[in-house]
Amino acid sequence: MRTAAREIAMRNAPAKMLAACLLSAMTVPAAAQTSPPVVLAAQTRGTPEQRAAAMLAQMTRDEKLTLLKGYFGTDFPPARFEAPDEARYGSAGYVPGIPRLGIPPQWQADAGIGVATQGGAAEKRARTALPSGLAVAATWDLALARAGGAMIGAEARADGFNVLLAGSVNLLREPRNGRNFEYAGEDPLLAGTIVGAAIAGIQSNGIISTVKHYAVNDQETDRGTGNSVIAEPALRMSDLLAFQFAIERGDPGSAMCAYNKVNGTYSCEHPFLLTQVLRGEWRWPGYVLSDWGAVHSTAASANAGLDQESGFGLQRDDWFGADKLRAALAAGQIDDARIDLMAGRILRSMFAHGLIDRPVAPDQPIDFAAHRAISRAAAEAGIVLLKNERGVLPLLAGAGRIAVIGGHADKGVLSGGGSSQVYPEGTNAVPGIAPTTWPGPVVYYPSSPLEELRKLLPGATFTFDDGVDPESAVRAAAGADVAIVFGTQWASESIDVAPALSDSQDTLIESVALANRNTVVVLETGGPVLMPWADRVPAILAAWYPGRAGGEAIARVLTGAVNPSGHLPATFPKSLDQLPWPGEPRRGDVAYTEGAAVGYKWFDAQRLEPLFPFGHGLSYTTFRHDHLAVAREGDGLFAMVEVTNTGTRAGADVVQVYVSGRGWEAPRRLGGFAKVALEPGERKRIEIHIDPRLLGVWFEGRPGWTHPAGAYTVSVGHSSRDLGESVIVELPASYLAPEWRP
Ligand code: BGC
Repeated sequence: MRTAAREIAMRNAPAKMLAACLLSAMTVPAAAQTSPPVVLAAQTRGTPEQRAAAMLAQMTRDEKLTLLKGYFGTDFPPARFEAPDEARYGSAGYVPGIPRLGIPPQWQADAGIGVATQGGAAEKRARTALPSGLAVAATWDLALARAGGAMIGAEARADGFNVLLAGSVNLLREPRNGRNFEYAGEDPLLAGTIVGAAIAGIQSNGIISTVKHYAVNDQETDRGTGNSVIAEPALRMSDLLAFQFAIERGDPGSAMCAYNKVNGTYSCEHPFLLTQVLRGEWRWPGYVLSDWGAVHSTAASANAGLDQESGFGLQRDDWFGADKLRAALAAGQIDDARIDLMAGRILRSMFAHGLIDRPVAPDQPIDFAAHRAISRAAAEAGIVLLKNERGVLPLLAGAGRIAVIGGHADKGVLSGGGSSQVYPEGTNAVPGIAPTTWPGPVVYYPSSPLEELRKLLPGATFTFDDGVDPESAVRAAAGADVAIVFGTQWASESIDVAPALSDSQDTLIESVALANRNTVVVLETGGPVLMPWADRVPAILAAWYPGRAGGEAIARVLTGAVNPSGHLPATFPKSLDQLPWPGEPRRGDVAYTEGAAVGYKWFDAQRLEPLFPFGHGLSYTTFRHDHLAVAREGDGLFAMVEVTNTGTRAGADVVQVYVSGRGWEAPRRLGGFAKVALEPGERKRIEIHIDPRLLGVWFEGRPGWTHPAGAYTVSVGHSSRDLGESVIVELPASYLAPEWRP
């Protein structure tokens, strides 16, 4: 449908719905005079469960079926699909409401990084982008992750969205995964708690967020039919544990089952994942919606625990369309109790998370300046200073001549592609880079590192070279006191990427480093990349995809206006042959033989020296950890340590506690962490709680967390490879059931 017509329909939607509700409440047909009056959703009282039950009791079967089918929220010409009038423009999804009962539609948007617009939409909604999910994980700051989520939720609410597809917690198992930038790294505790905090922030706006993609959707190659093969104990101690932490911390109203199969069964018809684990063991009360086109059956999916099929129009199968559901009911393949369960879970989440009592409306004002500041704070806290020799950084006021090279640093900063793409206010700073359509477009946010550096260092002389002609770049570098080269790697949903800069960028960096010994490399990448030149440059900064204010954040870190405090949420390998799977991403069966030894655990177990280890990150000051003490706390542990800023600048340390036990997949696991801000000379005593599941082993044939009796080592460190004091504690044998939660 044409845009103008759709926008009018969109603006009128709430009014139309309200009118329909009022009409249904006021007009009582003569024949039904004795039937009880309709109780609108907002009029119900009690717990979310009771209110959902009160709604179900009034609903016809067809009304219940309405809630189980979602539509794509954007026109899709290849399938001649026009989005429903009531869908929000350019959105991911729409599920009709039931006006007679005052049940609003579910308006769904992708929103992991900010409120996204589908690439195919004719015009793009301009909203605030946070740095990538991986950058937020690199902050190791739960309060910042929550604030970022709250910002996204506020913008979504202002657009009239009430269900966000945001809460991506797949583990970074495969550095080539094109979606690693959306996720939160390789460790279940860090990823799960960061994503859980973001979900809680989103939902603080009275809307639902969705944890996704459940489960083991750890690469994009062959994602629709690939089969992730992994033994149950390993699964429990890795990918599922990340989901468990995210769900416990965030309490998401919904979860999205993934495209891929897990051990031979599609995720969206997986009784073990959807019912036994999610509902049975984790006691999670929310509803499961499918990824867009991830359903392959009607009865098998419904009976396995899928509640809602998403994206009709983008997918044409319509497995949860009313016709197919009615046929399955008639054939006795599903029963009405199942339909009630499915519709009831959706309604319960709508009540529990504010969709009924705090209805959304589009076209509300947004405080872009305030939101941009949140994005900048997250970028500044997530940029990782990987290397800094000879005090090359921070750049000083008298820095002299500075050559800035490559990466479109004169215009903006790169972002990742696919359904999470957020379009900036203003324009794409570098339009026209291929691919310009799905999985593109490639979008640069208009926040130029060069321009911001000029503002912060007014005494310096800048030259910019686009890096296209290496000889010209070398000339620029040779004539400067410092050369800053920007290296970029674009990644996107639906593709996997080489974990590297392009060959020409590697060559450019090598040449510039030869011409200028003070060469600083700034990386804007989706995840870890190889750096064949790492030994030949004195300073490297990982800026990830730094979001809407990324240029400012990079400039402020380079100049020391901000002291870097990001730490790696993922291992940077030296070479591909260090990875569990060195070849190209696989098709068909993808056997994760490394099991729970993901990322640093693999490197530690195999005694491999990474380029930069998990947890690594430098600062312009130094920190010391002393007086580590460890005590038992319930079934877990409790560590206390003193952290001191021993340098001359204020800064923030990420105190990391690692634990080691017997019979584990790897020598150590991250047990807990805290981000602590300290003035020069300041000392703080901090407490870190270690979840007992991180001390346990899940054995085949013995579901739950077993703690063998014996010695456990607790160490405090600056990274997984830079450990300081350690304490050994003796623990008695113990066991926690699969249902255990804090
Ligand atoms: C992605 C999901 C996304 C959905 C709707 C799918 O292709 O895998 O993450 O939420 O599209 O845009």
